[in-house]
Amino acid sequence: MVRRCEGSVAILLLSIAMISVSSVGAEAKSKMQKQSFGKTEDGQQVDLHILTNKSGMQAEITNYGATLVSLKIPDRKGKFEDVVLGYDTLDGYVKDKPYFGATIGRYGNRIAHGQFTLDGVTYTLAKNNGENTLHGGIKGFNKRIWTARDVSGSAGPALELTYLSKDGEENFPGNLSVKVVYTLTERNEIKIDYSATTDKDTVINLTNHSYFNLAGQGNGDILQHQIMIRADRFTPVDATLIPTGELRSVKGTPFDFTAPMAIGARINQNDEQLKLGRGYDHNWVVNSGTTGSLSMVAQAYDPSSGRVLEVSTTEPGVQFYTGNFLDGVTGKQGKIYKQRYGFCFETQHFPDSPNHPNFPSTVLKPGQPYRSTTVYKFSTK
Ligand code: GLA
Repeated sequence: MVRRCEGSVAILLLSIAMISVSSVGAEAKSKMQKQSFGKTEDGQQVDLHILTNKSGMQAEITNYGATLVSLKIPDRKGKFEDVVLGYDTLDGYVKDKPYFGATIGRYGNRIAHGQFTLDGVTYTLAKNNGENTLHGGIKGFNKRIWTARDVSGSAGPALELTYLSKDGEENFPGNLSVKVVYTLTERNEIKIDYSATTDKDTVINLTNHSYFNLAGQGNGDILQHQIMIRADRFTPVDATLIPTGELRSVKGTPFDFTAPMAIGARINQNDEQLKLGRGYDHNWVVNSGTTGSLSMVAQAYDPSSGRVLEVSTTEPGVQFYTGNFLDGVTGKQGKIYKQRYGFCFETQHFPDSPNHPNFPSTVLKPGQPYRSTTVYKFSTK
Protein backbone atom coordinates (compact mmCIF):
# COMPACT_ATOMS: atom_id res chain seq x y z
CA MET A 1 0.00 0.00 0.00
CA VAL A 2 2.72 2.40 1.07
CA ARG A 3 4.83 1.43 -1.95
CA ARG A 4 1.86 1.97 -4.34
CA CYS A 5 1.37 5.40 -2.82
CA GLU A 6 5.06 6.27 -3.21
CA GLY A 7 4.81 5.15 -6.82
CA SER A 8 1.85 7.47 -7.52
CA VAL A 9 3.64 10.42 -5.92
CA ALA A 10 6.67 9.71 -8.11
CA ILE A 11 4.51 9.58 -11.24
CA LEU A 12 2.77 12.80 -10.21
CA LEU A 13 6.08 14.58 -9.64
CA LEU A 14 7.39 13.30 -12.95
CA SER A 15 4.36 14.56 -14.83
CA ILE A 16 4.57 18.00 -13.20
CA ALA A 17 8.23 18.15 -14.25
CA MET A 18 7.30 17.15 -17.81
CA ILE A 19 4.52 19.76 -18.05
CA SER A 20 6.83 22.55 -16.90
CA VAL A 21 9.58 21.45 -19.33
CA SER A 22 7.11 21.44 -22.21
CA SER A 23 5.74 24.88 -21.30
CA VAL A 24 9.28 26.29 -21.11
CA GLY A 25 10.07 24.70 -24.47
CA ALA A 26 6.85 25.93 -26.11
CA GLU A 27 7.98 29.46 -26.96
CA ALA A 28 5.04 31.34 -28.48
CA LYS A 29 5.23 31.51 -32.24
CA SER A 30 3.65 33.92 -34.65
CA LYS A 31 1.39 32.29 -37.19
CA MET A 32 -1.05 32.71 -40.05
CA GLN A 33 -4.18 30.61 -40.42
CA LYS A 34 -6.79 30.67 -43.13
CA GLN A 35 -10.46 29.73 -43.01
CA SER A 36 -13.47 30.18 -45.28
CA PHE A 37 -15.48 33.36 -44.76
CA GLY A 38 -18.18 32.18 -47.19
CA LYS A 39 -19.13 32.85 -50.78
CA THR A 40 -20.45 35.97 -52.47
CA GLU A 41 -23.81 35.85 -54.26
CA ASP A 42 -22.06 35.16 -57.56
CA GLY A 43 -20.21 32.21 -56.04
CA GLN A 44 -16.77 33.69 -55.37
CA GLN A 45 -14.86 32.23 -52.45
CA VAL A 46 -13.88 34.65 -49.69
CA ASP A 47 -11.42 33.83 -46.90
CA LEU A 48 -10.56 35.02 -43.45
CA HIS A 49 -6.85 35.16 -42.59
CA ILE A 50 -5.93 35.07 -38.92
CA LEU A 51 -2.55 36.56 -38.04
CA THR A 52 -1.14 36.02 -34.55
CA ASN A 53 2.12 37.48 -33.25
CA LYS A 54 4.38 36.09 -30.50
CA SER A 55 2.68 38.11 -27.76
CA GLY A 56 -0.75 36.83 -28.76
CA MET A 57 -2.05 39.93 -30.54
CA GLN A 58 -4.37 38.80 -33.30
CA ALA A 59 -5.65 40.40 -36.50
CA GLU A 60 -8.28 38.98 -38.82
CA ILE A 61 -8.29 40.15 -42.40
CA THR A 62 -10.58 39.18 -45.25
CA ASN A 63 -9.81 39.45 -48.95
CA TYR A 64 -13.31 40.94 -49.38
CA GLY A 65 -12.45 44.64 -49.55
CA ALA A 66 -8.97 43.89 -48.10
CA THR A 67 -10.73 44.49 -44.81
CA LEU A 68 -9.46 44.38 -41.23
CA VAL A 69 -12.23 42.39 -39.52
CA SER A 70 -10.94 42.14 -35.97
CA LEU A 71 -7.99 43.19 -33.86
CA LYS A 72 -7.48 41.65 -30.44
CA ILE A 73 -5.11 43.48 -28.13
CA PRO A 74 -4.50 43.46 -24.35
CA ASP A 75 -5.56 46.13 -21.88
CA ARG A 76 -3.34 47.26 -19.00
CA LYS A 77 -4.23 44.08 -17.07
CA GLY A 78 -3.47 41.83 -20.03
CA LYS A 79 -7.09 41.20 -20.98
CA PHE A 80 -7.52 40.84 -24.73
CA GLU A 81 -10.40 42.52 -26.49
CA ASP A 82 -11.39 43.22 -30.08
CA VAL A 83 -10.96 46.97 -30.62
CA VAL A 84 -12.38 47.44 -34.14
CA LEU A 85 -15.99 47.61 -35.28
CA GLY A 86 -17.17 45.08 -37.85
CA TYR A 87 -19.33 42.06 -38.55
CA ASP A 88 -19.23 38.34 -37.80
CA THR A 89 -20.11 37.30 -41.35
CA LEU A 90 -19.27 38.08 -44.96
CA ASP A 91 -22.87 39.13 -45.51
CA GLY A 92 -22.34 41.98 -43.05
CA TYR A 93 -19.48 43.30 -45.18
CA VAL A 94 -21.42 42.86 -48.43
CA LYS A 95 -24.24 45.04 -47.06
CA ASP A 96 -21.96 47.36 -45.06
CA LYS A 97 -22.44 51.12 -45.41
CA PRO A 98 -20.02 52.66 -42.83
CA TYR A 99 -16.94 51.03 -44.52
CA PHE A 100 -15.90 49.13 -41.37
CA GLY A 101 -12.21 48.19 -41.57
CA ALA A 102 -12.09 48.36 -45.36
CA THR A 103 -9.41 49.42 -47.79
CA ILE A 104 -10.74 52.52 -49.53
CA GLY A 105 -10.00 53.40 -53.15
CA ARG A 106 -9.48 54.34 -55.86
CA TYR A 107 -10.06 57.72 -54.26
CA GLY A 108 -10.64 57.83 -50.50
CA ASN A 109 -12.95 60.59 -49.22
CA ARG A 110 -14.90 63.04 -51.39
CA ILE A 111 -14.64 64.39 -54.91
CA ALA A 112 -16.91 67.42 -55.38
CA HIS A 113 -19.87 67.02 -57.75
CA GLY A 114 -18.40 63.70 -58.89
CA GLN A 115 -16.11 65.45 -61.33
CA PHE A 116 -12.48 66.24 -61.97
CA THR A 117 -10.36 67.22 -64.94
CA LEU A 118 -7.05 65.55 -65.73
CA ASP A 119 -4.88 66.32 -68.78
CA GLY A 120 -7.77 68.36 -70.23
CA VAL A 121 -10.30 65.50 -69.98
CA THR A 122 -13.25 65.80 -67.59
CA TYR A 123 -14.16 62.58 -65.79
CA THR A 124 -17.65 62.13 -64.37
CA LEU A 125 -18.05 59.77 -61.41
CA ALA A 126 -21.09 58.36 -59.65
CA LYS A 127 -22.53 60.66 -57.00
CA ASN A 128 -22.99 58.32 -54.06
CA ASN A 129 -22.90 60.94 -51.28
CA GLY A 130 -25.41 63.68 -52.07
CA GLU A 131 -23.84 65.74 -54.84
CA ASN A 132 -20.41 64.18 -54.33
CA THR A 133 -18.46 60.98 -54.87
CA LEU A 134 -17.36 59.26 -51.65
CA HIS A 135 -14.73 56.53 -51.14
CA GLY A 136 -14.32 55.43 -54.77
CA GLY A 137 -17.93 55.45 -55.94
CA ILE A 138 -20.72 52.90 -55.96
CA LYS A 139 -18.48 49.84 -55.95
CA GLY A 140 -15.19 50.93 -54.47
CA PHE A 141 -12.19 48.78 -53.50
CA ASN A 142 -14.06 47.92 -50.27
CA LYS A 143 -16.56 45.81 -52.26
CA ARG A 144 -14.00 44.00 -54.45
CA ILE A 145 -12.44 40.59 -54.04
CA TRP A 146 -8.70 40.76 -53.67
CA THR A 147 -6.09 38.04 -54.21
CA ALA A 148 -4.39 37.11 -50.94
CA ARG A 149 -0.92 35.67 -50.35
CA ASP A 150 0.97 34.86 -47.17
CA VAL A 151 4.15 36.98 -47.18
CA SER A 152 5.10 36.48 -43.51
CA GLY A 153 8.72 37.25 -42.68
CA SER A 154 10.99 38.24 -39.83
CA ALA A 155 8.88 41.35 -39.07
CA GLY A 156 5.89 39.13 -38.29
CA PRO A 157 2.96 37.47 -40.02
CA ALA A 158 2.00 39.41 -43.15
CA LEU A 159 -0.75 39.20 -45.75
CA GLU A 160 -0.45 40.65 -49.24
CA LEU A 161 -3.64 41.59 -51.08
CA THR A 162 -3.65 42.56 -54.74
CA TYR A 163 -6.33 43.93 -57.03
CA LEU A 164 -6.42 45.16 -60.62
CA SER A 165 -8.79 48.09 -61.00
CA LYS A 166 -9.52 48.20 -64.72
CA ASP A 167 -9.37 51.29 -66.90
CA GLY A 168 -12.83 52.89 -66.63
CA GLU A 169 -13.84 51.16 -63.39
CA GLU A 170 -16.15 53.60 -61.59
CA ASN A 171 -15.13 55.91 -64.50
CA PHE A 172 -11.55 56.43 -63.29
CA PRO A 173 -8.90 56.38 -66.04
CA GLY A 174 -6.10 53.81 -66.25
CA ASN A 175 -5.55 50.20 -65.31
CA LEU A 176 -4.44 50.51 -61.71
CA SER A 177 -2.61 47.59 -60.18
CA VAL A 178 -2.89 47.85 -56.39
CA LYS A 179 -1.11 46.05 -53.57
CA VAL A 180 -1.86 46.28 -49.84
CA VAL A 181 0.33 44.43 -47.34
CA TYR A 182 -0.83 44.09 -43.74
CA THR A 183 1.95 43.12 -41.32
CA LEU A 184 1.22 42.30 -37.69
CA THR A 185 4.60 43.12 -36.23
CA GLU A 186 6.16 41.69 -33.09
CA ARG A 187 5.98 45.25 -31.67
CA ASN A 188 2.16 45.09 -31.59
CA GLU A 189 1.67 47.16 -34.70
CA ILE A 190 -0.55 46.76 -37.71
CA LYS A 191 1.54 48.10 -40.56
CA ILE A 192 -0.21 48.76 -43.85
CA ASP A 193 1.93 49.24 -46.95
CA TYR A 194 0.11 50.40 -50.05
CA SER A 195 1.60 50.44 -53.54
CA ALA A 196 0.18 50.88 -57.02
CA THR A 197 1.09 51.44 -60.64
CA THR A 198 -0.98 52.76 -63.53
CA ASP A 199 -0.77 52.65 -67.32
CA LYS A 200 -2.52 56.06 -67.76
CA ASP A 201 -2.56 59.24 -65.72
CA THR A 202 -5.07 58.83 -62.91
CA VAL A 203 -5.83 59.99 -59.36
CA ILE A 204 -5.35 57.84 -56.29
CA ASN A 205 -5.94 58.17 -52.55
CA LEU A 206 -5.86 54.93 -50.57
CA THR A 207 -6.69 54.56 -46.91
CA ASN A 208 -8.01 52.17 -44.30
CA HIS A 209 -11.40 52.79 -42.71
CA SER A 210 -11.08 50.99 -39.35
CA TYR A 211 -13.30 52.28 -36.56
CA PHE A 212 -11.54 51.93 -33.21
CA ASN A 213 -12.98 51.69 -29.75
CA LEU A 214 -10.08 51.01 -27.39
CA ALA A 215 -12.52 49.93 -24.67
CA GLY A 216 -13.62 47.10 -26.97
CA GLN A 217 -15.99 47.05 -29.94
CA GLY A 218 -19.59 47.77 -28.96
CA ASN A 219 -18.62 48.76 -25.41
CA GLY A 220 -20.11 52.26 -25.43
CA ASP A 221 -19.09 55.51 -27.07
CA ILE A 222 -15.59 56.88 -27.58
CA LEU A 223 -16.16 60.32 -26.02
CA GLN A 224 -13.79 59.65 -23.09
CA HIS A 225 -10.89 58.68 -25.36
CA GLN A 226 -8.11 61.26 -25.29
CA ILE A 227 -6.85 62.28 -28.69
CA MET A 228 -3.73 64.04 -29.86
CA ILE A 229 -3.17 65.10 -33.48
CA ARG A 230 0.12 66.63 -34.54
CA ALA A 231 -1.44 69.20 -36.83
CA ASP A 232 -1.54 72.99 -36.58
CA ARG A 233 -4.06 73.27 -39.41
CA PHE A 234 -7.12 71.53 -40.80
CA THR A 235 -9.19 71.84 -43.96
CA PRO A 236 -12.58 73.42 -43.17
CA VAL A 237 -15.52 72.16 -45.22
CA ASP A 238 -18.72 73.39 -46.83
CA ALA A 239 -22.20 72.01 -46.09
CA THR A 240 -21.50 68.90 -48.22
CA LEU A 241 -18.18 68.20 -46.40
CA ILE A 242 -16.05 69.33 -49.35
CA PRO A 243 -12.97 71.37 -48.30
CA THR A 244 -13.30 75.06 -49.06
CA GLY A 245 -9.61 75.12 -50.01
CA GLU A 246 -8.52 77.01 -46.90
CA LEU A 247 -5.89 75.59 -44.56
CA ARG A 248 -7.13 76.99 -41.25
CA SER A 249 -5.23 77.24 -37.99
CA VAL A 250 -6.62 75.01 -35.21
CA LYS A 251 -5.57 77.54 -32.55
CA GLY A 252 -8.39 78.55 -30.27
CA THR A 253 -10.84 76.12 -31.93
CA PRO A 254 -12.29 72.70 -30.94
CA PHE A 255 -10.01 71.30 -33.66
CA ASP A 256 -6.88 71.91 -31.62
CA PHE A 257 -5.67 68.48 -30.54
CA THR A 258 -1.99 69.44 -30.40
CA ALA A 259 -2.23 68.56 -26.67
CA PRO A 260 -4.24 65.47 -25.62
CA MET A 261 -7.94 66.20 -25.15
CA ALA A 262 -11.03 64.04 -24.66
CA ILE A 263 -13.06 63.63 -27.86
CA GLY A 264 -16.22 64.60 -25.99
CA ALA A 265 -14.78 67.72 -24.35
CA ARG A 266 -15.75 70.11 -27.17
CA ILE A 267 -17.66 67.98 -29.70
CA ASN A 268 -21.02 69.60 -28.94
CA GLN A 269 -19.76 73.18 -28.94
CA ASN A 270 -21.60 75.71 -31.02
CA ASP A 271 -18.98 75.71 -33.75
CA GLU A 272 -19.87 76.08 -37.43
CA GLN A 273 -17.45 73.34 -38.56
CA LEU A 274 -18.59 70.87 -35.88
CA LYS A 275 -22.20 71.51 -36.88
CA LEU A 276 -21.43 70.85 -40.56
CA GLY A 277 -19.68 67.56 -39.71
CA ARG A 278 -22.22 66.58 -36.99
CA GLY A 279 -19.05 66.22 -34.91
CA TYR A 280 -15.50 65.64 -36.09
CA ASP A 281 -15.33 64.57 -39.72
CA HIS A 282 -12.45 66.65 -41.02
CA ASN A 283 -9.04 66.40 -42.55
CA TRP A 284 -6.12 67.56 -40.41
CA VAL A 285 -3.02 68.86 -42.22
CA VAL A 286 -0.35 67.00 -40.29
CA ASN A 287 2.81 68.92 -39.41
CA SER A 288 5.09 66.29 -40.95
CA GLY A 289 3.84 67.51 -44.34
CA THR A 290 4.57 65.95 -47.69
CA THR A 291 8.08 64.60 -47.03
CA GLY A 292 6.78 61.06 -47.51
CA SER A 293 8.70 59.83 -44.46
CA LEU A 294 6.94 57.84 -41.76
CA SER A 295 6.00 60.19 -38.89
CA MET A 296 3.86 59.82 -35.80
CA VAL A 297 0.80 61.98 -36.45
CA ALA A 298 -1.88 60.96 -33.95
CA GLN A 299 -2.55 59.20 -30.67
CA ALA A 300 -5.57 57.92 -28.81
CA TYR A 301 -5.75 56.79 -25.18
CA ASP A 302 -8.64 55.12 -23.42
CA PRO A 303 -8.32 55.83 -19.67
CA SER A 304 -10.65 52.95 -18.71
CA SER A 305 -8.67 50.14 -20.33
CA GLY A 306 -5.29 51.87 -20.55
CA ARG A 307 -5.01 51.00 -24.24
CA VAL A 308 -3.03 53.41 -26.40
CA LEU A 309 -3.07 53.72 -30.18
CA GLU A 310 -0.32 55.60 -32.00
CA VAL A 311 -0.66 56.34 -35.71
CA SER A 312 2.31 56.95 -37.98
CA THR A 313 2.01 57.66 -41.66
CA THR A 314 3.73 58.90 -44.79
CA GLU A 315 0.53 60.75 -45.77
CA PRO A 316 0.09 64.54 -45.44
CA GLY A 317 -3.39 64.33 -43.93
CA VAL A 318 -5.62 62.41 -41.56
CA GLN A 319 -9.42 62.34 -41.52
CA PHE A 320 -10.47 62.17 -37.90
CA TYR A 321 -14.04 60.90 -37.97
CA THR A 322 -16.06 60.27 -34.80
CA GLY A 323 -18.68 57.85 -36.15
CA ASN A 324 -21.26 60.63 -36.44
CA PHE A 325 -23.33 58.69 -38.97
CA LEU A 326 -23.50 55.42 -37.00
CA ASP A 327 -27.17 54.91 -36.26
CA GLY A 328 -27.59 51.55 -34.57
CA VAL A 329 -25.70 49.17 -36.86
CA THR A 330 -25.72 45.54 -35.68
CA GLY A 331 -22.11 44.43 -35.45
CA LYS A 332 -20.00 41.59 -34.06
CA GLN A 333 -21.55 39.42 -31.34
CA GLY A 334 -24.85 41.26 -31.85
CA LYS A 335 -23.42 44.49 -30.44
CA ILE A 336 -25.24 47.62 -31.55
CA TYR A 337 -23.06 50.46 -32.77
CA LYS A 338 -24.66 53.81 -32.04
CA GLN A 339 -23.50 57.30 -32.90
CA ARG A 340 -19.88 57.85 -31.72
CA TYR A 341 -19.23 54.21 -30.83
CA GLY A 342 -16.04 54.30 -32.90
CA PHE A 343 -13.53 56.74 -34.33
CA CYS A 344 -11.36 56.59 -37.45
CA PHE A 345 -7.94 57.94 -38.28
CA GLU A 346 -8.05 57.75 -42.08
CA THR A 347 -4.56 58.67 -43.19
CA GLN A 348 -4.80 60.24 -46.62
CA HIS A 349 -4.19 63.02 -49.12
CA PHE A 350 -6.73 65.78 -48.64
CA PRO A 351 -10.33 65.27 -49.76
CA ASP A 352 -11.20 66.59 -53.22
CA SER A 353 -7.54 67.19 -54.09
CA PRO A 354 -8.16 66.69 -57.84
CA ASN A 355 -10.18 69.94 -57.72
CA HIS A 356 -7.72 71.86 -55.51
CA PRO A 357 -4.42 72.73 -57.23
CA ASN A 358 -3.11 74.14 -53.91
CA PHE A 359 -3.41 70.72 -52.19
CA PRO A 360 -0.66 68.07 -52.47
CA SER A 361 -1.25 66.25 -55.75
CA THR A 362 -3.01 62.89 -55.98
CA VAL A 363 -2.13 62.40 -59.65
CA LEU A 364 -0.36 59.13 -60.46
CA LYS A 365 1.47 58.75 -63.74
CA PRO A 366 2.74 55.65 -65.51
CA GLY A 367 6.28 54.80 -64.44
CA GLN A 368 5.93 56.60 -61.07
CA PRO A 369 4.91 54.00 -58.52
CA TYR A 370 2.58 55.06 -55.71
CA ARG A 371 3.71 54.19 -52.19
CA SER A 372 2.13 54.89 -48.84
CA THR A 373 2.57 53.43 -45.36
CA THR A 374 0.51 53.72 -42.19
CA VAL A 375 1.28 52.05 -38.87
CA TYR A 376 -1.24 51.60 -36.05
CA LYS A 377 0.78 50.79 -32.93
CA PHE A 378 -0.82 49.51 -29.72
CA SER A 379 0.44 49.65 -26.14
CA THR A 380 -0.94 50.34 -22.66
CA LYS A 381 -0.32 52.79 -19.85
C1 GLA B 1 -15.55 59.15 -43.94
C2 GLA B 1 -16.31 60.36 -44.27
C3 GLA B 1 -17.53 60.43 -43.41
C4 GLA B 1 -18.38 59.19 -43.58
C5 GLA B 1 -17.54 57.96 -43.35
C6 GLA B 1 -18.30 56.74 -43.71
O1 GLA B 1 -15.00 59.23 -42.71
O2 GLA B 1 -15.55 61.53 -44.14
O3 GLA B 1 -18.28 61.56 -43.72
O4 GLA B 1 -18.92 59.18 -44.86
O5 GLA B 1 -16.37 58.02 -44.11
O6 GLA B 1 -19.55 56.68 -43.13
